[in-house]
Amino acid sequence: MYAQLKRATHLFLDSSSPGDKAGMSFDYFMIALIVANVFAIILETVESIYVKSPVFFFWFEVVSVAIFTLEYVLRVWSCAEDPSRGSNHPIMERVRFVLTPMAMIDLLAFLPFYLSAFFGIDLRMLRAIRLLRLLKLSRYSPALSVIGSVIMAQHKALTAALLVMLIALLFSSSILFVLEQDVQPDKFASIPDAMWWSLATLTTVGYGDVAPITPLGRFFGGITMIIGIGMFALPTGVIATGFADEIRKRDFVVNWKLVSGVPLFQSLDAAQVAEIVSVLMPLVVPSNYAVVRIGDDADSMFFIISGRLEVELPPKPFYLEAGEFFGEMAVLSGGKRSASVVAVTDCNLLELKVDDFKKLMAAHPAIAQSLHEVIAERTRQLELASKEDQV
Ligand code: CMP
Repeated sequence: MYAQLKRATHLFLDSSSPGDKAGMSFDYFMIALIVANVFAIILETVESIYVKSPVFFFWFEVVSVAIFTLEYVLRVWSCAEDPSRGSNHPIMERVRFVLTPMAMIDLLAFLPFYLSAFFGIDLRMLRAIRLLRLLKLSRYSPALSVIGSVIMAQHKALTAALLVMLIALLFSSSILFVLEQDVQPDKFASIPDAMWWSLATLTTVGYGDVAPITPLGRFFGGITMIIGIGMFALPTGVIATGFADEIRKRDFVVNWKLVSGVPLFQSLDAAQVAEIVSVLMPLVVPSNYAVVRIGDDADSMFFIISGRLEVELPPKPFYLEAGEFFGEMAVLSGGKRSASVVAVTDCNLLELKVDDFKKLMAAHPAIAQSLHEVIAERTRQLELASKEDQV
């Protein structure tokens, strides 16, 4: 009973699969609470609004902290139920969980409240720290977690870019310090002073509060400006490619799951599935869409991931569902499409181009054999259908 409750709690807190209504409602509730909290924190700083209802703000904070605390306690209590977290001792699992970045963000959402309420610790930064609650949203937003993964994955390239910027900063500020120090002793009194100018120039912000006036100073200032523009392209490029890589990786994982669920590929091992994932293209088609038309040339075949399609075979149509495939006959024979296949519902398909199809068949005789069997049966039915049609 206790174990069951723990497992149910874990699933409730962690599951966000589309079918899980309770889990989804909880997610939406938490997202709304976090957003409301952020608004409350911002509005609290507007004196005219705050004085109207300080009691509301106080109780809103208390209730929110209570909910965040309860959520945290339940997460820590039930985390050992996560199947992806090995099978260590539950206490060890909890310690590991508490140390994860996400759990720390959860803790930060309410800990400052207790520190100031019970221990009288006056956190003058409390308001700003409370805004960290916004980070809790990353649990619910895949896009936010992508940013985190990109930064982690590209940290070496980003550190290198940062180092180059630091070197540019040091060089330009020391050169300007030497050149301008005598003419503007108040503005370029030291290298740190010159660094302020250098940072404003390199980042292309250019406050204009400090500027070189000697000809040589201006010349180097100009070079610094140009370097500044190039410099910022560096991390931008790193992050952009990082994003593309990350999205590709995530797509790969999703497609992996889809492909390994297709019965025809059940006999393949991990490496072979990976190989096929890289050549299959996901395709979403709306209902009533004709994916292949009778008599057309064929350049690909399709696997059905979800949805229902109709093979238009007079007199009686034939229906295809998740796990099945179509379009293989014309691809294999090099001839024309034998029938039209139309989506009955919205469908998720995976498309395999003819060249990749041929490679796949050559590399996996077992798949070729299964396909031939299906094709033989379908050809028999087609012949039967055309005979009945003639009669
Ligand atoms: P193709 O000829 O390339 O294009 C039409 C597709 O409909 C065909 O490949 C098969 O995949 C599919 N098809 C044809 N006949 C049948 C059948 N009897 N049962 C299921 N699918 C069929």
